[in-house]
Amino acid sequence: MYKEILRPILFKFNPETAHKFTFISLRAIQCIPGGLFLTKQICKTPSKPVTVFGITFPNPVGLAAGLDKDAEAYDALGAMGFGFVEIGTVTPKAQPGNPKPRLFRLIKDKAIINRMGFNNKGVEYAIKKLKKRHSNIIIGGNIGKNKITPNENAINDYMICFESLFPYVDYFVVNVSSPNTPNLRELQDKEPLTNLLNTLQVANKKMSSPKPILLKIAPDLTYSQLDDIVSIVNETGIAGIVATNTTISREGLSYPKQEIDNYGNGGLSGAPETKHSTEIIKYISHKSGGKIPIIGVGGIMSVQDAKDKLAAGASLVQLYTGFIYEGSALIKNIVKNL
Ligand code: FNR
Repeated sequence: MYKEILRPILFKFNPETAHKFTFISLRAIQCIPGGLFLTKQICKTPSKPVTVFGITFPNPVGLAAGLDKDAEAYDALGAMGFGFVEIGTVTPKAQPGNPKPRLFRLIKDKAIINRMGFNNKGVEYAIKKLKKRHSNIIIGGNIGKNKITPNENAINDYMICFESLFPYVDYFVVNVSSPNTPNLRELQDKEPLTNLLNTLQVANKKMSSPKPILLKIAPDLTYSQLDDIVSIVNETGIAGIVATNTTISREGLSYPKQEIDNYGNGGLSGAPETKHSTEIIKYISHKSGGKIPIIGVGGIMSVQDAKDKLAAGASLVQLYTGFIYEGSALIKNIVKNL
């Protein structure tokens, strides 16, 4: 029904307007008595439990960060079949993100270019929403820094988000890999990354029951940078890696170069990213002897794409662009066929 009826309607609107309509509907599902129950019955995703970094997920298919930035629709998204939902990226203070337009569909290539720039309502707003959890959906808290915070003070921003979200999420993802916050990805360098992750781990270990902290990486890292990442993950003892975020590459697109250039900067996601992100998962898995849990994300548009990510070494997978193009049927199809 999504691809035949809903998607053609939604795709008539600009992507941000379509996103707004979708969220109004998802919030309505959460407010109407029986809405979540009914959605669950309609979507009927089979149970395929999997335990990773100490958490048992009802199925291994999650929603990637960036769709439910402000934790407004995670119950409805869980009812649609996701085994877990990653909220965020959340920053300490609310910020508007980049000027519009900043989100573009490349329909022929089943892709999206975005330069949203961590538009979000801030961590306190997300907490207010998380306090109203109506289901036992597993929630990841994806955390970042405000645009105005210089990299020297970035740790402070991540710590604010970590400490304030701690009671309300099940695991954390440290996002240093968005291409849309100036200089953010420099935090993936050896020294700042080790400092950041060590600081978070010290705070985590002080908690009565620490929570898994994962690192989300860009697909644009070199193999030698990936080697460093694996060493840092081992050294700091964090729980795993989310691979990957959107790419700054424009390879694999069928549109004329001029048209692509006109969209401007931003991260590319969807089908053109599938292969490379799977290669990165494979490399990390091999390099770490399969010991680092990986959440595989990047261009999962079909059951086979999800299977490839799992075969490459991921323990869980996440969707974003595939969910936009294929709807919730993709979640169910993947889970059913695993
Ligand atoms: C994203 N993504 C993202 N990631 C993240 O860690 N924090 C964020 O705030 C966002 N925001 C965001 C907005 C939009 C519009 C898109 C399309 C993507 C990246 C996302 O979580 C995922 O890693 C990539 O999109 C690759 O997966 P897909 O989309 O190819 O399945």
